[in-house]
Amino acid sequence: MRQVELPIYPVVYPTGHRLNQNESQFPLPDRIKNQLDSLTYDDLHEYPVEPINELFEQYAAYVGVTPEQLLVGCGSDEMIHVVTQALLAPHDIVLSPAPDFSMYPIFTTIAHGHHVQAVDLSYEGMVKAIETHHPKLLLLSNPNNPTGKLWTVEELTHLASLVPYIVVDEAYMDFTPDASMIPFIATYSNLIVLRTMSKAFGLANVRIGFMVTNCELAHYFRQFIPPFNISGVSAKICNIFLKDATYLQETIEWHDEMRQKWAQAFETIGHVIPATTNFLYVELEQPEAVWDHLTDLNVHTSKQPTGIRVTIGDEAALHLAHTAIQQYMETSHVKNS
Ligand SMILES: Cc1ncc(COP(=O)(O)O)c(C=O)c1O
Repeated sequence: MRQVELPIYPVVYPTGHRLNQNESQFPLPDRIKNQLDSLTYDDLHEYPVEPINELFEQYAAYVGVTPEQLLVGCGSDEMIHVVTQALLAPHDIVLSPAPDFSMYPIFTTIAHGHHVQAVDLSYEGMVKAIETHHPKLLLLSNPNNPTGKLWTVEELTHLASLVPYIVVDEAYMDFTPDASMIPFIATYSNLIVLRTMSKAFGLANVRIGFMVTNCELAHYFRQFIPPFNISGVSAKICNIFLKDATYLQETIEWHDEMRQKWAQAFETIGHVIPATTNFLYVELEQPEAVWDHLTDLNVHTSKQPTGIRVTIGDEAALHLAHTAIQQYMETSHVKNS
């Protein structure tokens, strides 16, 4: 056995208010529910082919590439797993900014690599860390999870020119598609973009994520995918959502309103980092104490070094969180940051 100590998921699946998982709370329109009702049991006995081919066609059209440039997996998590397994030799270095998505070090370790982090989320910090560590792979989320920071295309294309491979994980990019790196895949032969149906499309339980890259890399990575790695039922569900002419726009607009409203509310208790995601990062003076207090009340948020990350959408839970933080600050004299 290898000497590893990695978290086993789900670590703790919290009961109560889940503002910590960035799950969509957008209410499903009836027209979509009706179509989901039309799924039948008839083809459960078959390995899936047609619905997945259709998914490739539809998703390729959605992001503006050819189906040959896509890989599909069980969430974008599986795509991170595949990309690290396929690219890393033992001890190869993977660099991410700090903070970034918690799964990057885990998948790097599973793939026998070594994960390092830059000192912060700045472009300069990343360049310095590249000079120090000479990573084989840059792995970062854009927009950044947990802060919502958007890296610019200029920063990312320059970073791409400094390393053998760069993976830009665009789990939250459907909310701001114009900032995607997908149009630059044709120019940067070492660029790999990850996407998911879990966030803006609201399908975390369907477990569908994508890798988008050039045909040559896609062909290489395809060798590392197990046969029939996604369910045809999941593919069929995604096809319904991708075919709907207005669903995505409706959910984006709904999230824009929610974000605006709750950013304003949380500004009264901390500094809210501007974001285009389905979560907000609220910088606080005593994040750990506030997080503990909310957890005691069964309101689960994501604890971060300088604040908490809160999923937006569940208004009852957000009210509870907001009021609880306010009361906590009044009683503990925590000052606004
Ligand atoms: C930045 C980022 N990447 C990837 C994922 C994994 O998402 P999924 O496996 O559901 O596609 C998440 C989930 O929260 C995420 O925040």
